[in-house]
Amino acid sequence: MKLSTLIPGLALVGASIATQSLCNKYTTALFGSNTEAHQQLLLHKLVNTAVIGNYSAGALNAVPGILAPGTYNGENVNLLQYFDGELASSNRGGKCGVAINFLDGGGAAPLMNDKAANCRNCNQFFLLTHLYKFFAALLGCSVFGNTVKPYDGFNGMYQVHKFMALDAAEVGYFIQQVGLAATSFGVSQSDAAAVGQALMALFGYRCAPATSVPSFEPAALQSICTACDCPKASPADCGDYGPVIEPKPAGSSSSWCGSKGWKSSWKWCSSHHS
Ligand SMILES: *[C@@H]1O[C@H](CO)[C@@H](O)[C@H](O)[C@H]1NC(C)=O
Repeated sequence: MKLSTLIPGLALVGASIATQSLCNKYTTALFGSNTEAHQQLLLHKLVNTAVIGNYSAGALNAVPGILAPGTYNGENVNLLQYFDGELASSNRGGKCGVAINFLDGGGAAPLMNDKAANCRNCNQFFLLTHLYKFFAALLGCSVFGNTVKPYDGFNGMYQVHKFMALDAAEVGYFIQQVGLAATSFGVSQSDAAAVGQALMALFGYRCAPATSVPSFEPAALQSICTACDCPKASPADCGDYGPVIEPKPAGSSSSWCGSKGWKSSWKWCSSHHS
């Protein structure tokens, strides 16, 4: 089955990629020519703004940023704890998550200069440069993230996020900040909404069947939203996903992976929520 038939939001972005991708369109509109360097600059500004909030003069709307505490649908959200090493929530292959500080390259300061980090051999550089390439591929950049510097990070967003136990408000807030960052540069409301829908369709449902993201990667599980309040994908492959365990605080001595025990498992979700 084609991804675009599976996921309505993607059909929208796919249609714009077929004529002119959002990356190519806005690189030209904002920087005058659609070069690899300009595409990369667009991605640096988009991702950095989504992460730390608007920092360039002339922002058309305020962007609080993914690292700022916020609310989504009336729920408090604090995504910083997954980035600063507070929680043992990163997957490095073990049975439990590990604590990693992804702000070890100068934090917000280099991001405000359109850079990834003040270092190259640090977690912050690794994360940010992979986000640039990943979003470049999703937004259809003709060169950056595609033929030059293609995304080469972990494949399968479920594996990357599985020890975070992210819920609907957390994923919704993340996607909302990406949309706000886009419109703050002049991306139209309808184009930003199409990106938001595509991100929601790919990552915002629990139990989504394996698929290729970016399209040149092998198929893998992509659900980032895994808690029971995440809408269930249709079709769904819940059996391919593991139980959802709240991450424990960094340095906690418990041998058990979770702090508060099981947040949910797909079996629990299916008996209570669907
Ligand atoms: C962010 O954008 C808002 C709205 O344009 C503006 O009022 C605010 O000063 C901006 N913040 C920064 C740090 O530029």
